[in-house]
Parts: sequence; C-alpha cells; structure tokens
Amino acid sequence: METVNTGGGYSGAAMEQLQEASIGTLALLTTTAVLTVTLLARKMLAEKPQGDKRAPPHIPSTIPYLGHAVSFGLSPLEFLLAAYEKYGPVFSFTMVGKTFTYLVGSDAAALMFNSKNENLNAEEVYNKLTGPVFGKGVAYDVPHPVFLEQKKMLKTGLNIARFREHIPMIVDETEEYFKRWGNSGQKDLFQAMSELIILTASSCLHGPEIRSIMNEAVAQLYWELDGGFSAEAWLLPTWVPLPSFKKRDVAHKKVKQIFYNAIQKRRESNETHDDMLQTLLDSTYKSGRHLTDDEIAGMMIGLLLAGQHTSSTTSTWMAFFLAQNKEIQDNCFEEQQSLFGKELAPLDYDSLKECSYIERCLKETLRLRPPIMTMMRMCKTEQTVLGYTIPPGHQVCVSPTTNQKLKDMWEDAATFNPDRFLSKTGAVSDDKFIYIPFGAGRHRCIGESFAYVQIKTIMSTFLRLFEVELGDPGFPEINYATMIHTPLNPIIKYKKRQS
Ligand code: HEM
Repeated sequence: METVNTGGGYSGAAMEQLQEASIGTLALLTTTAVLTVTLLARKMLAEKPQGDKRAPPHIPSTIPYLGHAVSFGLSPLEFLLAAYEKYGPVFSFTMVGKTFTYLVGSDAAALMFNSKNENLNAEEVYNKLTGPVFGKGVAYDVPHPVFLEQKKMLKTGLNIARFREHIPMIVDETEEYFKRWGNSGQKDLFQAMSELIILTASSCLHGPEIRSIMNEAVAQLYWELDGGFSAEAWLLPTWVPLPSFKKRDVAHKKVKQIFYNAIQKRRESNETHDDMLQTLLDSTYKSGRHLTDDEIAGMMIGLLLAGQHTSSTTSTWMAFFLAQNKEIQDNCFEEQQSLFGKELAPLDYDSLKECSYIERCLKETLRLRPPIMTMMRMCKTEQTVLGYTIPPGHQVCVSPTTNQKLKDMWEDAATFNPDRFLSKTGAVSDDKFIYIPFGAGRHRCIGESFAYVQIKTIMSTFLRLFEVELGDPGFPEINYATMIHTPLNPIIKYKKRQS
C-alpha cells in the first residue's frame, strides 16, 4: 500500500534525503557503513551467480558503499534511461551497500509481475516502512496469502454501488473546500489537493463516525503517521530514537484509538451502514474468523494512506498539465458542458463514466508522473530473465516512470497528449507491462477504480469552478527528495468561471 505504495522511488528519495538528514543521523549512518563494510564485501561475493551463469551488467562505481546513490538520487529517471541505453533492459548497480537490479521494458518487467511472492518478496522491502505505520497483523506484516485475503475484503468494499454514493460526497467536499479560495488568486495547489484527498477519502472510505471527528488535530495525526514513510525509516533500524519515529509511533497509537472508538460505536449502535467499515466488520477469513478490531483499524489506516500521496500528487500534476495546455483545459470544460448541459447538472456515476476526455487526461498524467516511481522486491531465489541470472539478495525493481517514458515505446514520449489513449494502449506496441502506474500481478493496486472516481470527480468540480494558469514559479520541477515525486513550488493561478 504506497503508500503502501511504497516504492515511490524509495531509493532515489532516500539518497536525496540523505542530504537533508541531521548530523546525528549522518554520523549514525557513517558508523553503520564502516561496521558493515566487511560484511558487505562478503555479501556481494555471495550475490554473484554460481557457475557459468551470466549476471546482469553491473554499472561500475568508484565510491565505496554509497555507490551510485548521489547520481541516482539527483535524477533517477535520467539515470535509469541512460543505463537502459547503455546496458539494455536488465542492469544492476550499488547504492548504500545494496545491489539494485532494474528490469526495464515489458519483457524484463514480466519477471516481477509473474513471479511468486516467495521468490521475489515484497514484505522484506516494504514492511520496514509500513509496519510501524499500519501496525501488526495487516499488509506486509502477515504472510502473503493472508494479505491477499485482506486485499480481497477491501476490494469487496470498493464497489460500484458505493462509488455512486461517493460522487455527491466528493462534490460537496470539493465545493465546500474551494469556497475559501475566493474569486481569483495564486495558491499552493498541492497543499489544497492533499487536504481535499484526505477529507474525501475519509468521507468515502471511513464512514460518518470518523469523518465527523475529522478536524485539524486529527489531520495532523495523519501527517505525523505519514511521516513514517521516510528515507530514514527505510535506512535506519526502527529503534533509533529519531523525533520523527517517536511522532509516528505516538500518532499510530492515537489514530488506532480513534478507530477502536468508531468500531465500538458502530457495534453498539446496532445500525448497519453500507460502507467500508461495515464491510470489514462483516468480513471473515477463509477459516471463518472475523477480523479483530486491531486488524480493522490497521486496514483503515492503510486504505487512507495508500491513496493519500498517490492521488494528491496525481490531481496536482494533472491540474498543472491543464494549466500549461489551455486548449486541453478548454476541451475538458467543453466536455462537461456537452455531457451535463450549459447549466452543468450534478455529476453522477454514469455520466462521469462518459467523461472520456478528462479520463484520458488523467491517464496521460499517470503516464508522465506515476506517483510510484519504483516497485521493489527482494530476490529470494535465483531468477533468470532475458538470459541473465539474478542471484538472491538483489533488490529487484521495476519503474513505471521509466517504462512509461521509453522513446522506443511511446511516440513523442515527453509530450502531454491525452489523445494518444484513443488507441488501445496509447503506446507504439501493445506490450503488456509498458503502462503500469497501478502495478500488475499479485501486488496490483486495488484502489485504481476508487482513485479514478475520486480524481475525476475532484477535477471535474474544480474545472467547473475555476479556469487555471501556471502561477509565477511556472510549471513545477519534480521534487526527487520525497518518496513520491511531488511538484516543487506548486503555485497555481486561478480565476472563478463566470456562471
Ligand atoms: C492514483 C492513485 C494510485 C496509484 C497510482 C497507485 C499505485 C499502486 C501501485 C503501483 C501498486 C503496486 C505496488 C507494488 O507492486 O509494489 C499499488 C498497490 C496497492 N494499492 Fe494503490 N495506487 C493508488 C491509489 C490507491 C488507493 C486509493 C488505494 C486504496 C483505497 C490503494 C491501495 C493499494 C493496495 C491495497 C495495494 C496492494 C499492495 C500489495 O499487494 O503489495 N491504492 N498501488
């Protein structure tokens, strides 16, 4: 879950954030590095494939331990595209003592998406981050078959009947939120979208008990919990007494308590609602066992945070692409008028589905700015791909950002062109794993449909309210220092539409 969604270019972000880490953290890291250097040398020898098997080409580095951390961290996409040009679809390199093997392009990526979790393992790379945030007994803290059962329960709760109810709730939240913007001005759009996504997700996914107590203090607890998805958390043991770890752990306890209270209130009320909390209260494992309150609370946290950065960065980038391309923005608004009339009748699920132009804009945003930059797995057993043998111990990675920008796969790859998706795949070929913003295989996202409903509803409402242009800082640069690649200086200029 990105959040669970993890990934987010853990590694790239990790390196960038190293620059921002406190002196204490750096001292700790240096000590750790010195102590582990001998072990690493041994480990790297052990990581070579045995016999005459061919290891993936290894990008050489003269910097011990850190390896390519700095150049990757400064610009992961350029690093990976250049490596693909030079070494082909499978290559390895070292960063902070770990060996990363990237699978670029569809044929190579197929290894990850078709693999079994016991061979290419997700929890070993993700649980360090998600464990302290979601808590015990859920997601990557349980054996994979159990997580698959939990995903199935969550998926049952994300259904079309519910989406029909979600749409007016999201419209109301969005209209209410943007009242504070007035008639015109310049504002930080990423901050706005982050707040709006948390409010709408809480309304739709958590139910009335939780949404009714959602205030600044609760939002602050979510931010502190969310602060657990950091480079430090990925690099350092959980017991290190960092203030951000402490905040995360305190916030975890408090948020859990909020959910325990809501669960108890729901049970005592004897009312049944048609929402996610009810789905989880009613769900059972194959064994017949119901979820414990702790599991339900952990899954509710995961559900909220999985969509938080992913959907808030996507909506923000989408608005900036539209602000930059006035004609495309106008097409989106005209689509609203042609489907809902000049008076702009209320949005509903069936008509929203018809909004195919805005949907293509969202799809194209997810191609150029997929929030999860890299999906990672720990290689547990020797794997063969395109003639190369990957030994156990490598971190095997697939990057949507890279696959979705390959020049040999996408015409005019860098250009924002929603109409490329008028063709079946939008790409030059119909290779299966070229467009993968939601992943694929057994770890595939379960939140895609909800995210589409949520973002399309927010963006349609937003464009009905405002016309937008780039703010004074211009089109935002990508902030590689964050786990999910967020926009830097995301200031948008807006003007209320005349009704
Ligand atoms: C634009 C929005 C989103 C994007 C781009 C996105 C992307 C992804 C990706 C790439 C993965 C695969 C991770 C991997 O293979 O390592 C994933 C998994 C997942 N996502 Fe999403 N996600 C989004 C929104 C959501 C939402 C709204 C939810 C929940 C309501 C959600 C829940 C999950 C869950 C439960 C997994 C499964 C993780 C696993 O099985 O290992 N996501 N997502």
